[in-house]
Amino acid sequence: MRDQWNSKLGFVLAAIGSAVGLGNIWRFPYVAANNGGGAFLLPYFFVILTAGIPILILEYTMGKTYRGGAPVTWARINKKFEWLGWWQVMCAFIITVYYFAIVVWTVCYVGFSFTSAWGDDPTSFFVSFLGLSDSALNLGGIQMNLLLPYLAVWAVVAFIMYRGINKGINIACKICLPLLLIMITILVIRGLTLPGALDGLEYMFKPDWSALTKPSVWVAAYGQVFFSLSICFAIMLAYSSYLPKETDVVNTAFITATTNHGFEVFAGIGVFSIMGYMAYAQGVGVEEIAGSGVGLAFMTFPTAINTLPGMNGFFGVCFFGALLTAGITSLISIIQAVVSGMQDKFAMSHKKACTVVMVPAFLLGLLFVTGAGLNILDIVDAFINNVGVATAGFLEVLIIGWFFKPETLRKEANEFSNFSIGKWWVYALKIVTVLGLGVMVILNTKDFIVNGYGGYAQSDINVFGWGMLAICVAAVIILTSMKGKEGYADISKIASKEVK
Ligand code: ALA
Repeated sequence: MRDQWNSKLGFVLAAIGSAVGLGNIWRFPYVAANNGGGAFLLPYFFVILTAGIPILILEYTMGKTYRGGAPVTWARINKKFEWLGWWQVMCAFIITVYYFAIVVWTVCYVGFSFTSAWGDDPTSFFVSFLGLSDSALNLGGIQMNLLLPYLAVWAVVAFIMYRGINKGINIACKICLPLLLIMITILVIRGLTLPGALDGLEYMFKPDWSALTKPSVWVAAYGQVFFSLSICFAIMLAYSSYLPKETDVVNTAFITATTNHGFEVFAGIGVFSIMGYMAYAQGVGVEEIAGSGVGLAFMTFPTAINTLPGMNGFFGVCFFGALLTAGITSLISIIQAVVSGMQDKFAMSHKKACTVVMVPAFLLGLLFVTGAGLNILDIVDAFINNVGVATAGFLEVLIIGWFFKPETLRKEANEFSNFSIGKWWVYALKIVTVLGLGVMVILNTKDFIVNGYGGYAQSDINVFGWGMLAICVAAVIILTSMKGKEGYADISKIASKEVK
C-alpha cells in the first residue's frame, strides 16, 4: 500500500516547504533584477494568475485522482503520455543534482557568516572558495573544501528521505518552516529600517511598461513561477498522489500559491531593502549592484552584510540560515518527485527507490564540487528550466487542454471543494497558457540555438546545455519502454484499493 499524508496540514506544510525554496530567496531577486526590477512584476503576476495557480490546481487534481508519481499518473490518463511524466521526472533529477550544490555552498556560508570570513571582497572570496575555473569544460578537479560539506548534506538529506513522507519530509518541514519565517522576518525588519531601503524597494516595485514587449521577460516570468511553485517538473503531482481523494484541492492550491508568492515578495522586500542600503552606503544606484545573476546571494549579499552598521554576523546567519532551511525542504521534494516516479512504475520499496535515485545523483553532483561547478550550474539551470521545464509545462497544458477532457478534471476538483472553479480555469489553461507559453518556448529555444547562453563557449553549451537535454531524452525513452509492475497504468484496480 502506498503512503498517505497523515493529515491535510501535513500535506499543506510539505507543499509550502517544497514551493518556498532557493527559488524564493536566491533566484527571485536576481531574476527580477535581471529583468528590469519592477518591470518583471507585471508578467510575474499575470503568469501566477493565468498559469501558476491553474496548473497547481490541475496537478493537485491529477495527483489525487490518478495516485502515482508523474509517469504513472500520465500513464493512467493514457498510456501514450507516460513519456511526458518521465520527462518531468528527468527535469526533477537534473534540478536535484545542482540544487544540492547550492545547498552545500549555503551550509558553508552559514559558517562563514559568524566571522564574516568572506572579508572585504566577497566576490573574490566566492571565486576562490569554489576554486572557479575559466570554463564549464575545465573541471579543475574536486575542491576538497567542498567535499566534506557535500558529504554532510547528503547524509542529512538521505536520512530524511529514507524515513519517508510522514516521518521524514513532514517532520523536516515542521522544523524548517517556522525557523525560515523567523529569520526572514528579522531580515525584512532590519532591511526596512535602514536608510536607502526605499530606493531598493522602488527598484523592485516600480513598473516599467515597456518591458512587457520583451519576450525574454515573459520567459523569465514563466520560468520563475514554475520553479517557485514546484510545478511542471513532477513534484506537485507526486506530493498530491499521497492525498486522499476527498481533499479540497482548490482551496489547498490557493493556500500554497498565496503563501509561496507572498513569501517570495516578502523575502524580496528584505533583500532589496538591504541592497538599497548598500547602494546608499556606496553612493551608487541600486541597478549597479542588483544585477549579478546567480552570484547575487553569495557575492552581492555578503557585501551588503558587510556594510550593515552592526550585528553583521547575526544577519548573515539569518540570511544564509533562511536559504538553508528553505533549500532543504524543497530539495527533499524534488528528490521525492523522482523517487515516486521509480517506485510507482517498478514496484520498488520506498527505500530502494531512494537508493536508486540518490546514488546516481550523488555521483553526478560531484561535477558541481569541481572548479567548474558554478559555470556548469549556470548553463544547466538555464537549459533545464527555460527549455526542459517550460516545454514540459507547455505539453502538460496542451495535452490536458486539447486531447483530454479538462472538464472532467474540473468536475473532479470541484467535487470536494468549498469554492468551485469556473470555466475560466479551462480557458486559462487551454488558451492563455498554451498560447503564451508555447510562443515563449519557441522564441527562447530559438534564442539559445542562435545566440547560445550567457557568453559561454559553444562547446560548453553543447555539452551541458544541449548534451544534457539529449541525455534526458535518451533516459526518457529507456524508462518509458521498460516493463513496469503488472497493471501500473490501470487506474481502476489501484484506485479502488487505495482511495479511502
Ligand atoms: N520550488 C522550489 C524553489 O523555489 C524548487 O526553490
